Amino acid sequence: MDELKQLLENNRRWAEEIQAQQPDFFSRLAGQQTPRYLWIGCSDSRVPANQVIGLMPGEVFVHRNVANLVHHSDLNVLSVIQFAVDVLKVEHIIVCGHYGCGGVHAALTDQHVGLADNWIRSIRELYQVLRKQIDALPTESDRGDMLCELNVKAQVYHVSQTTVVKDAWARGQKLAVHGIVYGLKDGRAHDLGVSLDNADDADAVWPITPAD
Ligand code: CO
Repeated sequence: MDELKQLLENNRRWAEEIQAQQPDFFSRLAGQQTPRYLWIGCSDSRVPANQVIGLMPGEVFVHRNVANLVHHSDLNVLSVIQFAVDVLKVEHIIVCGHYGCGGVHAALTDQHVGLADNWIRSIRELYQVLRKQIDALPTESDRGDMLCELNVKAQVYHVSQTTVVKDAWARGQKLAVHGIVYGLKDGRAHDLGVSLDNADDADAVWPITPAD
């Protein structure tokens, strides 16, 4: 209970500090949220969405799960995307992976974690298809980094293939999907160059080519 008390004490101080700087901050946010961004990131405690991109409460809508995955049948992530695009009208969806991701590493090494093995199965399959280029890298850390990047690219593609995003583009709604990867060691996020703002360019970001 002492730990909870400490957290609530932290919360009290945080709320007071913000209120001191902007007296109407919470009352304004309570009225409505108008975030321009949807963040789809890993649950990893070291990759907090708001802090990484320097945004305050109210500025980014967030979905996080193990290894930042967008499964086509995951009602949770699909509902988040639908609400963000159709109701909040976000203009950017950012898929953020991170180097040193435990989920990606477990998929790479076929490590048995438990139930989560099923969740990260698609990363394992991505690795199996792209094994030649990944295994060509010298260290396990390099191979993990590459699989983290490839996984983000795959999820950007998955976002672009959801009915919600396809429908938004079809009706001319302004919406871009981006893929970035965050470095735990230096706190820096890098653009993977797979930004999409229309359906026609989507196939180009899927990381698997016929030659693979
Ligand atoms: Co992770």
